[in-house]
Amino acid sequence: MNMPVPPIEVLEQHLIDPEICIRCNTCEETCPIDAITHDENNYVVKADVCNGCRACVSPCPTGAIDNWRTVLKLEAYSIDEQFRWDELPAQKPIGDIAAAAGTLETDAAAVLDAPRAAVELETDPQSLVRGAQVPPWSAAKPYVNLYAHKAPVTATVVGNYGLTDEASDNDVHHIVLDFGAMPFPVLEGQSIGILAPGTTADGKPHHARQYSIASPRNGERPGYNNLSLTVKRVTRDHDGNLAEGVCSNYLCDLKKGDTVTVIGPFGSTFLMPNHPNSHLLMICTGTGSAPMRAMTEYRRRRRLEGATGKLMLFFGARTKEELPYFGPLTKLPKDFIDTNLAFSRTPGQPKRYVQDAMRERAADVARLLKDEQTYIYVCGLRGMEDGVLQALQEIAESHGLDWSGLWGRLKREGRLHLETY
Ligand code: FAD
Ligand code: A2P
Repeated sequence: MNMPVPPIEVLEQHLIDPEICIRCNTCEETCPIDAITHDENNYVVKADVCNGCRACVSPCPTGAIDNWRTVLKLEAYSIDEQFRWDELPAQKPIGDIAAAAGTLETDAAAVLDAPRAAVELETDPQSLVRGAQVPPWSAAKPYVNLYAHKAPVTATVVGNYGLTDEASDNDVHHIVLDFGAMPFPVLEGQSIGILAPGTTADGKPHHARQYSIASPRNGERPGYNNLSLTVKRVTRDHDGNLAEGVCSNYLCDLKKGDTVTVIGPFGSTFLMPNHPNSHLLMICTGTGSAPMRAMTEYRRRRRLEGATGKLMLFFGARTKEELPYFGPLTKLPKDFIDTNLAFSRTPGQPKRYVQDAMRERAADVARLLKDEQTYIYVCGLRGMEDGVLQALQEIAESHGLDWSGLWGRLKREGRLHLETY
């Protein structure tokens, strides 16, 4: 009698990058099922407990938490191994893993247990990762983690301006921070961590909150050691219940001259290409406009120095009154940036999302998708990721492009960057 063959499962194992992690304990505090632990060396994830819910990903101030390796479940890295790491192991060739998982497919019982991942691996080796994990080849080298929790830097507020109409539901602020004599080199697409004063209800310091930098590398004001943020005041939680966000309210209420405790900078992949003929296709909602503003302004400054690539922007907000930077955006020359706005709550108008605007401009989006100099950036609401990727797929396929091949290439070449929260 044939014994049943035990199923070999493929796992997308969640790991923490020991080189970037600042050991702030945020992930361990956040994890709803106690899958994260630490010793004096590293923070680690228990493969047998983690369910991939990603609750820890957004609060992590450095992005160290957002690392995944495709492994055979039987070969998952143990926490003892992870405690000893000084750096993350490389991804083992996906083809080998697919082959190992694929051997099972001759066995009917095993096929029933084969995870979805194993099936996807056969069609698109990178299908488990949605965006690039490498920067554009020509991106400038970023500095990361110059200032950590134990040695943060102090910045001074030199401006705090409301960006949205006072009558609207959304209160978004443009906040300018100056670092004085302290070095704080940044690139467009990077973020910083803010440590709000005070403590949580159980007496612990607040964990750092991450904010995208909204200004170019050479300063909100060129040549100054300053940067800007685009901060939305959180007054309701994701379910719509009243909630006073600790850090966003603190930031939005700051006055000129106040000081702020900052860590970072963070981010080494969501960066813009430096070669002058590269095109930027930018898709954002709400405060996801921050990195797009930084990149656009850097390109505007460089345009004077001969940058020739195209810029195309899709920007979604509830109404025009709630769209951060509406005024300045609409004043940018049409031959510099092709701006497409999508409003979802304009009275008397149908709901329109960025992906709808993309479909309306399908021919031009497809032209950019066909061009190897195009770099795509998506930032804003977590929920937009699916819709935007689906729109890209539809546009690609209706213009004769093989989306799965193109998607893989965009990821490998650092040409598709997603940052949603
Ligand atoms: P908390 O006190 O942490 O949360 C209060 C309650 O509100 C909780 O129930 C929480 O679940 C919920 N909540 C948290 N955030 C939101 C939200 N956005 N909408 C609705 N409910 C929410 N924010 C910006 O404003 N501008 C940025 O440029 C920006 N960039 C980011 C970049 C990255 C890479 C990441 C991961 C996040 C970014 N954020 C940005 C979000 C920011 O880090 C905070 O999460 C946000 O400001 C809420 O923090 P808080 O302390 O005010 O709220
Ligand atoms: P909606 O009116 O449905 O909330 P916010 O103001 O909450 O930051 O959102 C910014 C914009 O993103 C709003 O217009 C919002 O529309 C829109 N939005 C909400 N969900 C999605 C989604 N899944 N894809 C694209 N846009 C979305």
